[in-house]
Amino acid sequence: MIVHPSVEKYLEGIQPARDAVLADMEAEALRRDFPAVGPQVGALLGLLARSAGARRVLELGSGFGYSAVWFARALPDGGEVHLTDSSAELLESARGYLARAGLADRARLHLGEALGVARGLQGPFDLVFNDIDKEHYPEVVAPALRLLRPGGLLVTDNALWHGRVTQPARRDAATRGVRAYNRAVLSHPELSTVILPLRDGVAVSVKR
Ligand SMILES: C[S@@+](CC[C@H](N)C(=O)[O-])C[C@H]1O[C@@H](n2cnc3c(N)ncnc32)[C@H](O)[C@@H]1O
Repeated sequence: MIVHPSVEKYLEGIQPARDAVLADMEAEALRRDFPAVGPQVGALLGLLARSAGARRVLELGSGFGYSAVWFARALPDGGEVHLTDSSAELLESARGYLARAGLADRARLHLGEALGVARGLQGPFDLVFNDIDKEHYPEVVAPALRLLRPGGLLVTDNALWHGRVTQPARRDAATRGVRAYNRAVLSHPELSTVILPLRDGVAVSVKR
């Protein structure tokens, strides 16, 4: 846990109650020990999409659709959230939850490796959300820049990766991937980036 446990507990405790669909998804994440972003980051994603006036959002790594529900709810009528996942079972589950939430018309589901799917998509997108396997994080920057409009947002979860990014002895591929991603977005001439130490860290970049 990045944030002091008592602060984390406080932040969790003051989150507004979620509706039945999000509550059921949170229960499923708990039951399956599945790393959905949770309500603090979910609320941030919705807020960022709204602030950017987003109409088109691309998710890289959607799981069973928890973060996608937060995005879809932040979009105006006619908006689109594109979900990607390499698991057909997870995407089918996402389809069901989005339908139950009355958001099916905003969802576009793409089964397959997320970066391969991204290569086949046309921009512009207003926001790209990255939540794929951590060792591949550095490979996200170039396709995201290609797909984003100027002023669009690249948002990445787990930017502090359980604090492992701070531990030099951690040399595993996932930790190295997150470190390399953070360095890349902080130094990239086309991006302005802030890493927010919310939950497991969220990197927010704007394309200049
Ligand atoms: C952390 S979970 C996503 C959670 C989701 N964003 C949420 O908060 O509800 C990561 C998901 O990305 C998928 N995934 C990881 N790497 C991927 C890749 N390279 N291409 C496609 N899917 C990937 C996994 O199957 C998993 O469902």
